[in-house]
Amino acid sequence: MRILTGLQPSGKLHLGNYFAVIKKILNYQEEHDLFCFVANLHSLTTFRSREEQETNTYDAVCDLLALGLNPDRSVFWVQSELPEVIELSWYLGMCISVNQLSLAHSYKDKVAKGFVPNAGLYYYPVLMASDILAFNSEKVPVGKDQKQHLEFARDIAEKFNRDFGETFVLPEPEIDKGSGIIPGTDGQKMSKSYNNTINFFDTEKKLKKSVMSIVSDSKEIDEPKNPDESVIFQIFSLFLDDRQVQDLRKRYETPGLRYGDVKKELFEAIMEHFAPYRQERERIAADKSYVREVLDKGRSKALAAAMPQIEKARYFTGIKNFI
Ligand code: TRP
Repeated sequence: MRILTGLQPSGKLHLGNYFAVIKKILNYQEEHDLFCFVANLHSLTTFRSREEQETNTYDAVCDLLALGLNPDRSVFWVQSELPEVIELSWYLGMCISVNQLSLAHSYKDKVAKGFVPNAGLYYYPVLMASDILAFNSEKVPVGKDQKQHLEFARDIAEKFNRDFGETFVLPEPEIDKGSGIIPGTDGQKMSKSYNNTINFFDTEKKLKKSVMSIVSDSKEIDEPKNPDESVIFQIFSLFLDDRQVQDLRKRYETPGLRYGDVKKELFEAIMEHFAPYRQERERIAADKSYVREVLDKGRSKALAAAMPQIEKARYFTGIKNFI
């Protein structure tokens, strides 16, 4: 099965990104054809500076490669390096009404918060539909927040197939139930916008500081503690097998546990888990010619996969054979 996903480059990766999104995506590589790209055109809708846009894109590429995205097995590229997909998005724009686009949550939410929306934000769902349809993707794993965009992509595909000519596969969403919400250092969902993230590619010092800042209640050392109400416990469990979770649970319920000690252990566990990835990331990020090579290869594989659909779309729209 062909599974496609795009990840916006939005800065440093944190444990929430890793456990809720990236790990799941990388697992698809084993049994499916994974198409994965860094969505740097979508991230333009939250532009701050050229430098930040460049750094975030390069970082996202290195992060994914270091974490195990296999560019030989999967197709991996940077969205902007395939402008044919933007071309396709123009044709697809003829297959969705302005009315429907105004219903997009991504757009409505920003407007509700008082932003003056630019046309890029408005067109965002069409570009996303193009990302998906260009590759005849069968499954698109997305969070709940992206469900509506996937419905738009299906509507657009249906309309194009009907009005212009049979071209696109209808993509199926694979909605993540959000069962695995990872709490941040303050107990809310871990998210960059809450400033509560634990960034596992940070320097050791910064990483330790975030771990030590995880909230805990004010129970005394000699009181038993409730693991189910502990953010430290919840985060630690991500790194433990069932037996280790039970052991930690017992330690919580037995008087004598110091939260500070558990945090230190958690920090060690994070370091141990990510040590190989951290090393790999350093190696990759320093080797720009390797990264360039990987992306060139990814770009040509992606282009080859998209070309039949793009050629059909050019043909059916009367753009291609006018002479
Ligand atoms: N909009 C998605 C997000 O913010 C990123 C994205 C862009 C995407 N194009 C895509 C995801 C195509 C899946 C498929 O998360």
